[in-house]
Amino acid sequence: MKKPVSRVLVINDEKLILKAFVKGLNAAAKSIENPFGIIFCGVTTVHEALQSIEQDGDIQALVVDDKLYTLDSGNRHARHLQMTALELVQKISLIRPELNIYVLIAQEREGEVVDALFSETVDGYFYREEQDYRGIYRILNAQIQEKARTPFYDQLKHYVLMAKDAWHTPGHSSGDSLRDSPWVSDFYEFIGEHIFRADLSVSVPMLDSLMGPTGVIAEAQKLAARAFGAQRTFFATNGTSTANKVIFQTLLAPGNKLLLDRNCHKSVHHGVILSGAHPVYLDSSVNKKFNIYGPVPKQTLFKAIEEHDDAQALILTSCTYDGLRYDLPPIIQAAHARGIKVIIDEAWYGFARFHPAFRPTALEAGADYATQSTHKVLSAFSQSSMIHVNDPDFNAHLFRENFNMHTSTSPQYSMIASLDVARKQAVLEGYKLLARTLELSAELRVQINSTGVFQVLELADLLPDELRDDHIQLDPTKVTVDISRCGLTVEELIRELFEHYNIQVEKSTFNTLTLLLTIGTTRSKVSRLYDALMRIARKNRAPRRIYRTVEIPRFTALYYLPRDAFYCGGELMPLLDEKDSVNSDLNSRVCADQITPYPPGIPVLVPGQLITREITHYLAGMLRSQKRIAVHGIVYDGYLPCIRLLTAEEERSLKRLV
Ligand SMILES: Cc1ncc(COP(=O)(O)O)c(C=O)c1O
Repeated sequence: MKKPVSRVLVINDEKLILKAFVKGLNAAAKSIENPFGIIFCGVTTVHEALQSIEQDGDIQALVVDDKLYTLDSGNRHARHLQMTALELVQKISLIRPELNIYVLIAQEREGEVVDALFSETVDGYFYREEQDYRGIYRILNAQIQEKARTPFYDQLKHYVLMAKDAWHTPGHSSGDSLRDSPWVSDFYEFIGEHIFRADLSVSVPMLDSLMGPTGVIAEAQKLAARAFGAQRTFFATNGTSTANKVIFQTLLAPGNKLLLDRNCHKSVHHGVILSGAHPVYLDSSVNKKFNIYGPVPKQTLFKAIEEHDDAQALILTSCTYDGLRYDLPPIIQAAHARGIKVIIDEAWYGFARFHPAFRPTALEAGADYATQSTHKVLSAFSQSSMIHVNDPDFNAHLFRENFNMHTSTSPQYSMIASLDVARKQAVLEGYKLLARTLELSAELRVQINSTGVFQVLELADLLPDELRDDHIQLDPTKVTVDISRCGLTVEELIRELFEHYNIQVEKSTFNTLTLLLTIGTTRSKVSRLYDALMRIARKNRAPRRIYRTVEIPRFTALYYLPRDAFYCGGELMPLLDEKDSVNSDLNSRVCADQITPYPPGIPVLVPGQLITREITHYLAGMLRSQKRIAVHGIVYDGYLPCIRLLTAEEERSLKRLV
């Protein structure tokens, strides 16, 4: 394994003192064990300090003098204050909140400095005059060690190395059932010995319990909370899909109002059914040229918050799958002013805390809950997510009950370990890796545009008109490309990239491809993609006629609570008759299922919603002409596509909402 480098920046305006300090500290680092490669370096000005913090991703900690002066060049005795320690600490925290900051103080000013910095994230103080270099080194080393700790992963490794005989689940018994099999040992070899050895049972007490953690899982979650700026963090091993449902069931009693973007992930819509919430659907904006669904316009949100001040919660997705992110602070403020809790689905944005280009995160913007698919954008195994909580009224007991309701009693320990490790990596090298990802994203954009055929869509291209003044930002790690001039349909292009160039992309619309860059994107991958697109572009194919997908109809009306409608037996009615005509008997009936075409994945109907002619014609159009679109929720009676409806009697038995 490569040895890490951890630079500690000392900021002191007096060159000679600084030189002696850095020398003393480096000598201490050399004379004591130094597992994190700590090296001290110094700067005399605030400007240099901030520049170093931005440019040097290996900086892990700072030692800041409590006052930084500059000598007046005209008058050797006049000194100008560059910046107070308080201001500097605030600036550093805005850039990289994960850095440890210590302040150098003079004994006589201790009270004043400590008071001023009381509410800031300062890790401690050193007396300048003491010159206790070894002491300072030890403390900084311990701080880095704390961030580098992976309590769950360490314990898992430790347990595996203890090589205990397994008289417990899982049945493969550390892989012993597979290892020598003439039929399935290839699986053991392919997946790898340690996956099996680390696949253990809740019967091993030293590995703690995900359902009531008090040991190493609790410790790992605490470290994650600190890293992500949360009061509490919970590891979820069934993805953000489950994380969203857990929060809904905690916050929403049956009948409680929930404001939600209709474009929220399907887990949110499932959560509505499970919790029995009364949803108020907010229509997403849509970019008609590319059929990309974006955030809910700010004015729509403010209006909904005002009109539904009895709502219990609001949930939004930020950033969206396409990288559009809300200007969250004013929205959250407006919701909080009405006592509405805010949940932000950050499934695609779990890295954002670790580079200022992506901040503020949902929690920094004031959200009560944030759910993150750590596995989508950081180094965790699939399904490994985090729930971050900053709700001042958090009901820990209720949350725990709901968390446990959705959590397997046999969680996969490698996933928990991967969350522990992903957090450590994000804290210690997230900034550096994200800086590289941003660089690669910028390069890739230039390269794609240089093909003259493919064009990257920037914020202005992606923004639906109604969002022009909403201060929406684009996450540059999501790269959406207009492919309409390449002479291939999107399906043909995806196939060509896959079959001829070994490239698999993230998602598509009828005329765009979206590429996802992460901290694992390498320059080689970027150049291979560029090469592939350039070769395809050079074929100079005549542009193809591209059939655009139709915009989804706006939300109609919710007659009954989705949960009530969903749990009715209902009856099936065909959407198309034997002659392929749209069945007009469906009009004015109420749907019992959620019907969602993929893509874009927005439900056209939810349980309890009124069906109209526009909706049936839209769905029929999807089924007839768009073979690449799967319509989830349609029931096939033989060859006939049907919709499950509430019967007249069921409708009479339910409480009408409007
Ligand atoms: C916005 C959003 N939320 C939640 C999820 C579910 O996340 P997971 O795959 O971690 O269950 C997804 C998955 O694509 C998503 O796009």
